[in-house]
Amino acid sequence: MATKFRKIGVLTSGGDAPGMNAAVRAVTRAALARGVQVMGIYGGYRGMIDDDMIELTSREVSNKITLGGTFLYSDRCLEFKEEAGMKKAIETLKKHEIDGVVCIGGDGTFRGATDLSAHGIPTIGIPGTIDNDITATDNTIGFDTAMQTVLENVDRLRDTCESHARCNVIEVMGRGAGDIALNTAIACGAVDAVIPEVKFDEDALLKKIVRLRRDGKRNFIVIVSEGVEDCSERLAKRINDETKALGEKENDKTLWVETKFCRLAHVVRGGSPTLSDRLLATKMGVRAVDELLAGKSDLVICEKGGEIVTTEIKFSQVLDRMYKGTLKDGMLDGFTKEQLDEMKAIIAEKKKVFEETYALMAELAN
Ligand code: F6P
Repeated sequence: MATKFRKIGVLTSGGDAPGMNAAVRAVTRAALARGVQVMGIYGGYRGMIDDDMIELTSREVSNKITLGGTFLYSDRCLEFKEEAGMKKAIETLKKHEIDGVVCIGGDGTFRGATDLSAHGIPTIGIPGTIDNDITATDNTIGFDTAMQTVLENVDRLRDTCESHARCNVIEVMGRGAGDIALNTAIACGAVDAVIPEVKFDEDALLKKIVRLRRDGKRNFIVIVSEGVEDCSERLAKRINDETKALGEKENDKTLWVETKFCRLAHVVRGGSPTLSDRLLATKMGVRAVDELLAGKSDLVICEKGGEIVTTEIKFSQVLDRMYKGTLKDGMLDGFTKEQLDEMKAIIAEKKKVFEETYALMAELAN
């Protein structure tokens, strides 16, 4: 263990995610067990700028493992992106003699961690976001709980759809990633999932709904990821209007698949974390402390095939951009051929899993 670490900071930033508290608890208890003090920084990077923090004792993190949200609060702090904000943040860290920081959040949080690291403050990132959109890790903290919450809510919607022979189009969060929508569509027995990763054939869905209604199917669930623009509400209206017109044309009211729209929105971000999220957060939190105290910086803790591993934040960010097709000139500079090949392999595998999972959902949605 590098001896220079006497005090570290921990923060949660960006959209909150269930399990962030479990990660803070793990960071705190692991650091204390290694003789290192911990400061909890309030409101993400904002707390560094405003000098808003609290010493975290073992008791301070008691009973937090079960709580949703983040007791350290969160913020998307624009001031931190400016040099003046960064200067204030570093002054605060120096004043409190904080030797390194664990930053829990998504890609925006990691950008902040990298900036701090570039200014000489060692940082380790932990992926905490419901979206599961950090390509370097199989799972992010909060993803499992978010899916469980979608499942519970859609099961309720299905009950009422069945009673009234209706369809419900449900929009779920995920930013640009369809992970929540696709997995919950399978688990909820949805008739389709509309996600950014797979081309959506809207006419085919309409035909399928009519075919299944003629076959006697009463309820229909369609899950749409918020990342697919101009879709969910419009699709609900289209299913409703076209099946209603068909019923009128054929003089058969049962062909009308009355369709309601529901946006689960921030409901999906709240609630007590699942067992999987608590375990993941705990393992990642302890590993983050070990990496920091071993003198490492600018890393993100990932889960790969059930193992906790580390990846350079820069690698993780470029990988995300390569996956989303948002690379800019020069971003690949400095990476070796092996690293670029590794990125391409990870992306190919992720795309394959998406296609296979979508095919599985589509085959059974009948
Ligand atoms: O990144 C998490 C997330 O919940 C996304 O799924 C969603 O698009 C976004 O944050 C919502 O952000 P806000 O809380 O600022 O409305």
